[in-house]
Amino acid sequence: MANNDIIAVLKKTAKKQPVFLLSEIIPYLDEPLAVDQIFSAIAKKLPGLGLLAKKTGNDYTISQKTAEETLAITAVEAGRQDASFASQRMPPILETAIEQYIVKKTGKELSDPVMLDRLRKAIVFQKSDYWKPTHQRALKYTKAYSVLGYLAYHFPVYFVQTEHLLAMLARDGLLKEKMTVLDAGTGPGVVPLAIADFWSRLETATATVYSIERSEEHIEAFLSLRDQCTKKGERVSIKPPIKADLVTFDPEKIPQQIDLMVFSNSLNELGGLSIEERADLVLKLAGRLAPDGSILIVEPAEETTSTSLRLLALALKKRGLTIHSPCSFIWGTNCTPDRCWSFATGRNIQPTRLMGRLSECDEPFRYINIDIKYSYVVLRKDEKTRHSYRVPAKSRVLRVSQVHRHIDKRVNFIAAKMSENLGDGKNLMFRLCDGTADKPVFAVVPVYHVTPENEVLKTAPYGTIVKLDGVLVRYNKAHNAYNLLVSRNTRVTMAEVPDQED
Ligand SMILES: C[S@@+](CC[C@H](N)C(=O)[O-])C[C@H]1O[C@@H](n2cnc3c(N)ncnc32)[C@H](O)[C@@H]1O
Repeated sequence: MANNDIIAVLKKTAKKQPVFLLSEIIPYLDEPLAVDQIFSAIAKKLPGLGLLAKKTGNDYTISQKTAEETLAITAVEAGRQDASFASQRMPPILETAIEQYIVKKTGKELSDPVMLDRLRKAIVFQKSDYWKPTHQRALKYTKAYSVLGYLAYHFPVYFVQTEHLLAMLARDGLLKEKMTVLDAGTGPGVVPLAIADFWSRLETATATVYSIERSEEHIEAFLSLRDQCTKKGERVSIKPPIKADLVTFDPEKIPQQIDLMVFSNSLNELGGLSIEERADLVLKLAGRLAPDGSILIVEPAEETTSTSLRLLALALKKRGLTIHSPCSFIWGTNCTPDRCWSFATGRNIQPTRLMGRLSECDEPFRYINIDIKYSYVVLRKDEKTRHSYRVPAKSRVLRVSQVHRHIDKRVNFIAAKMSENLGDGKNLMFRLCDGTADKPVFAVVPVYHVTPENEVLKTAPYGTIVKLDGVLVRYNKAHNAYNLLVSRNTRVTMAEVPDQED
């Protein structure tokens, strides 16, 4: 009997029954075969059919593959990733590809002063546009120089930042050995190229990356960089971007089971859309997310953009998605994110050669972009969260929403550390959140009050849930916020096993 006939029977059975024994298909075969004979005929085809086989006595249980295997990074792979992060720069091949693309597009050498000046102007325009309210922004990336300016100024930082986020997703067990990714608003392919680079240090994992972008100039840059930096047949396959507007995009144009959907610095560019309309857009695409897939939304750390991301995350939570991280709803309440300005940070990257050239002018600082600061949220369709911690029923701690009743008193709280140090050389300051407050709350520690009993506040990674015993509550009228003063008598401990964050 031909293998194709066995496969046809197998497919038909799998359509009717999500789980069955391989022996159950024997009566439907033209020629009776033994279970082992059938198995050797179909074994290699099973992954492609989305089926799994499990030895069950002398038989095999066949089931639908609902979750791809989670990517577990080996020690050797982790060593390679660490070495790459230690360099804090883009791969040399990508840095060169960007330079060559600029030379090709402009027809000028990189030393050309007129070309460098036009790049500087494009960067200044992009930065000034960025600080405008979203509805007044004009940037559409229709001009060559706006994309070249993006490649010179934003690309390097966002590329390294994406790799930090991929490492975070891997630590959280949200990446798979074999996965399908969608990058919405891909620009010149920062996320797909970062995936290709990150995966190049893994042994066996594979990924297929789809993307959506509306700017032709960005798509041209994307394809050029992809073709220079990746080869056909590698374990990451980067498909050409789908040219489309995210607002009117038809989700049927992308595969059904996306494992990771990324919106990196793109949703804030949808200036005309309200938070609810952005939530509609994300949910429309989430219709194509696998049941165990993740959505990663990343935005710049700037206050308005960052706060809008939190409002969007809550809107999506209210409409059925789960916030996996970084937020932890430790009292089981929804939060009030109107003034939630929380971002993660990473070590500065090394300036690129091109940044070096651009900074040979009167205002060099304007053209060097090396800070990694970003706000992110990971959302899921299932109920998986990074932290499952809830404040125990008999804890002698207050909800942060009650802080106004305890001004000038010493009290205890449990909250997540939602910033790195925002203070200065004399006082360390960390944003705290327990999901209940409507005004910003900060832990403030004079440097000389840092002791072994409270230093975990300083050293714990972003998002860690800590218990603070004996903080003095102060109201900061100028900022309509609360400061919880940590002294050498305050004890700060981990409320749960630590989680790692880059
Ligand atoms: C700031 S760039 C981000 C690019 C890349 N994701 C990154 O993180 O570097 C925003 C991208 O979103 C794209 N974009 C903005 N609005 C869009 C829309 N309505 N439809 C499709 N793409 C859009 C822009 O063209 C641009 O390429």
